[in-house]
Amino acid sequence: MSFTPIGASRPKITVSTLQEKKSRHEPITCLTAYDYWGARLVDEAGIDMILVGDSLAMTVLGQENTLSLTVDEMLHHVRAARRGISNALLLADMPYGSYHLASDEAVRNATRFVKEAGAEMVKIEGGEKRADLIRRILDAEIPVAGHIGLTPQSVNRMGGFKVQGKSLSDIERLMRDAVALDRAGVSCMFLEGIPREVAEMITSEVGCPTIGIGAGPGCDGQVLVFHDILHLTFEPAAKFVRRYMDGAREISQAIEAFRADVLTKDYPADTESYHLSPETRQAIETLLERKGAMRGRRSMNTVE
Ligand code: KIV
Repeated sequence: MSFTPIGASRPKITVSTLQEKKSRHEPITCLTAYDYWGARLVDEAGIDMILVGDSLAMTVLGQENTLSLTVDEMLHHVRAARRGISNALLLADMPYGSYHLASDEAVRNATRFVKEAGAEMVKIEGGEKRADLIRRILDAEIPVAGHIGLTPQSVNRMGGFKVQGKSLSDIERLMRDAVALDRAGVSCMFLEGIPREVAEMITSEVGCPTIGIGAGPGCDGQVLVFHDILHLTFEPAAKFVRRYMDGAREISQAIEAFRADVLTKDYPADTESYHLSPETRQAIETLLERKGAMRGRRSMNTVE
C-alpha cells in the first residue's frame, strides 16, 4: 500500500474520499484537535479527518466528563481549528443537550457549526433512536457521523466509561444501531470501546466507513485523542492508547529549565536582548558626559 508523503501536495479530503478509501481498503486516519495550533500540526502531518471532539471538555478544560460543554464553547474551538486546516476534513462534535431535545433546535445547532465555524460534518452519539434526526440534518445538507458503543455523553446511564457490547443482547443492539445509522445515511460511524470482533462484524455489515477508538484493528479507520498520543495528560492511559511521545514530562522539564534560568539570571543572555545602534549609543554617551560635566561645574561654583 502506498501513502502520500508528508509535505507532498495532497488533495482536499471530502466525504467521498472516505467512501473511496473504504472501497480501496485504505485505512482512514483521524485525530482530535481543539485549536489552531494543534489542528495545523495534525493537518500538516497528513491526517484525513480532524475531529474537534467534545473530549475537549476533559483534555483542555479539565472537566470530569463531556456533559457540561455548550454549543458556544464548541464553536469557539471549531473556529480556531478551522484556521489551521487546509486539507483534512473538519468534523465537529455536537455537545450533550444540543440535539437531545427538539429536532428543529438540533438542526439549527448543526447549521451553526457549518455557518459559524466552517465544520464539514457533525457527529452525534447514539444509534437507532437518532436515525430520524440524522435524516433531518442531512436534509439541511450537512454530512453526519454516527457514534456508537461507549458513547461518553451516556456516562451516567452506562455507570462510567465502560466497554460496551460484551453480551449477546448488547451485540445485537449494537448491530441494529449500526445498520440503522448506515441506512439513515451517515458518512461514517465511530465505534468506541467495543470488542474487536463486534467492530469487525459491524464494519463488514455496513456500507459507510467505520472509525474505531478502542475497537480493534478491523475498522476502516482509527481515531485517537491528540492529548493521549502525545501524553499531554495527567491520568493513566486507557488500554487502547498508544503514546508517541512523553509530552507532559518534556513540557514540565522545559518549564522548570526556564524558571531556573530566570532565577540564576542566565536568561536573558546578551544575544536575547535588543540593542541600540552604535550611533544612538554614542549620542547618548556624549549627552551623558556633557550633563556630567555641567553638574561638575555647578558643584564647583557652589564651593566657591
Ligand atoms: O470527543 C471525542 O474525542 C470523541 C472520540 C471519538 C475521539 O468523540
